[in-house]
Amino acid sequence: MSRIYHKRLVNATEMVNAAHKGKYAIGHFNINNLEWTKAILEAAQETNTPTIIATSEGALKYMGGAKVVVGMVNGLLDELNITVPVALHLDHGQSIEMAKKCIEAGYSSVMFDGSHLPYEENIAKVKELMVFAKNHEISVEAEIGSIGGEEDGVVGEGELGDPKQAAEMGATGISMLAAGIGNIHGKYPEWWKSLSFETLQALQDACKLPMVLHGGSGIPQDQVKKAITLGISKINVNTELQLAFRDATRKYVEDKKDLDDDAKGFDPRKLLAPGYKALKATFVELTTLFGCANKAGK
Ligand code: G3H
Ligand code: ZN
Repeated sequence: MSRIYHKRLVNATEMVNAAHKGKYAIGHFNINNLEWTKAILEAAQETNTPTIIATSEGALKYMGGAKVVVGMVNGLLDELNITVPVALHLDHGQSIEMAKKCIEAGYSSVMFDGSHLPYEENIAKVKELMVFAKNHEISVEAEIGSIGGEEDGVVGEGELGDPKQAAEMGATGISMLAAGIGNIHGKYPEWWKSLSFETLQALQDACKLPMVLHGGSGIPQDQVKKAITLGISKINVNTELQLAFRDATRKYVEDKKDLDDDAKGFDPRKLLAPGYKALKATFVELTTLFGCANKAGK
């Protein structure tokens, strides 16, 4: 038994441990297609930034399945000569079977999101997954409480994490723990005011592990920075990149560049180029805020 994943991939343990110790956070970016993946990998290499590329179950199905994602990511790692640490992570895995399937296909990191299950069942499944994960040098993320809102069909009420559960999850050998701390997937509603720093502090004291902030899009910068000082070592971003891509693509269309047939403005490589550039720029902005920019090899 040993690692299955590509030699240029790493699991996420070392990078989140270094972030935890150094008081910064690694960016976890959800991908949707080739443009997303290439933009993130290129930006990571250009800025010397360790990075986590993630797919929800919905996104990996959209792209054709785990093997397609692995083939695309591994191919890009080789062809673009990516040398910064990159982990390929299953986000919000809903079952042990899906986590194992992704590991067997070549993922280096998985999240088992048992927040929809009774806690006893959640932790029992995490323990079961840990045996398989250890055999294959995979980093594992678990979740307690739940993240508010909806992401790719995963719906949460936003229950705050319980410190006792955080301590028990920490003892299973997982690399990082996600928890409900008042965070929400998608755009934050008008009424939302703040993360619960009190909860975060209590959970961190209990588990002492690198913790994961889901719903990382649109949280005020001062709150992001404070969360990092309290143990957040990985920040998950999906919506913010989608919005950046949307805005740039909208401008291209509103400027009627897609209708310029003489310039072949309809060529998808041209149509998608502004969105692609916006993804790279947003990556640089966020990783600078998270403090992980230029942290590869340090
Ligand atoms: O797991 C992925 C995230 O939690 C992303 O959340 O779409 O609100 O950025 P977001
Ligand atoms: Zn999430």
